[in-house]
Amino acid sequence: MQDRPEIARAVALLRAGELVAFPTETVYGLGADALNPAAVAKIFAAKGRPADHPLIVHLPDGTELDAWAREVPDAARKLAAAFWPGPLTLILKRQPHVPDAVTGGQDTVGLRVPNHPLALALLRAFHGGVAAPSANRYGRISPTSAAHVIAELGAAVQLVLDGGPCTVGIESTIVDLSGGTPRVLRPGAISAADIARVLGEALPTAATTSDTPRVAGSHAAHYAPSTPLRVVAGAQLADAIGAELSTGQHVAVLAHSAKPVVAKNLTWQAAPADAATYAHDLYATLRGLDEAAYDLLLIEAPPATPAWFAVADRLQRAACGSGEDDET
Ligand code: TXA
Ligand code: MG
Repeated sequence: MQDRPEIARAVALLRAGELVAFPTETVYGLGADALNPAAVAKIFAAKGRPADHPLIVHLPDGTELDAWAREVPDAARKLAAAFWPGPLTLILKRQPHVPDAVTGGQDTVGLRVPNHPLALALLRAFHGGVAAPSANRYGRISPTSAAHVIAELGAAVQLVLDGGPCTVGIESTIVDLSGGTPRVLRPGAISAADIARVLGEALPTAATTSDTPRVAGSHAAHYAPSTPLRVVAGAQLADAIGAELSTGQHVAVLAHSAKPVVAKNLTWQAAPADAATYAHDLYATLRGLDEAAYDLLLIEAPPATPAWFAVADRLQRAACGSGEDDET
């Protein structure tokens, strides 16, 4: 894999301070050499992202932890051993050489070893850290295929490594280990219970994201389509549909359990009933619904169970930001 010509080209671009988009198991990333502040600045320009939002540094393996973090608590080593490569980002105190451009000037750095053969081939061949946010314009739906990246960023990125559709489909779980107690800053495929099991201690769960402004995805508006989007409890769905249709709007419904309603100006789309498949499909589905240019997307609220926390989090933020041009 490392010998593939596109990997050599990607490494040459990274070394030259250019951007490369690459697949991970979660979403596609927009990568730059993490030790080159001018290259990292190009990421912010391409995304239209505020400069104080820190980036995750992607590493080829867990042995690199100490090169990037100056304090690596036991909990970090345990989580890295259990979940890397995989959809988990650890926030740790940074080594002094980690550029402010990457950390947003904070004293911490986000680190992750992604579980995708192309990403790992790139990282191994590059021999360094690749700073990469999701490869979408700021506030918009994250890309889960190479075509999504091109639709989002176009000419702003010289090379998109195409690794097919992402297997997980939503961004990594972020755990902050830079303070006393481990905290989940962003829910993802690895749950708080999975983490607690490895650490042998319970974590604060669920809505912990809301008071952590440094996590970009924790701003209310994020992952948003341009079409207005509402999340409605299954029991209220029929009433909500009736009310919206009565105003003459074209409405699309995405439902994972509610019984289909047939009506004029209503498009019904069934979503997977299990959380992992739902997450896998979510961004491509939102993108497709957005492109179809309905007046409104009504999404059946997911169950309030831990298995659905990450999906519920993304839907809630998509609902906040939808239909606006400027997300915060
Ligand atoms: O699955 C993922 O994590 C994907 C793939 C490409 O790895 N990346 C991703 O990056 O979702 P991004 O930039 O879209 O989201 C990373 C989040 C941001 O909300 C950022 O604020 C947070 O991680 N983050 C990064 N470094 C941090 C730090 N030092 N402290 C707190 N939050 C941090
Ligand atoms: Mg993102």
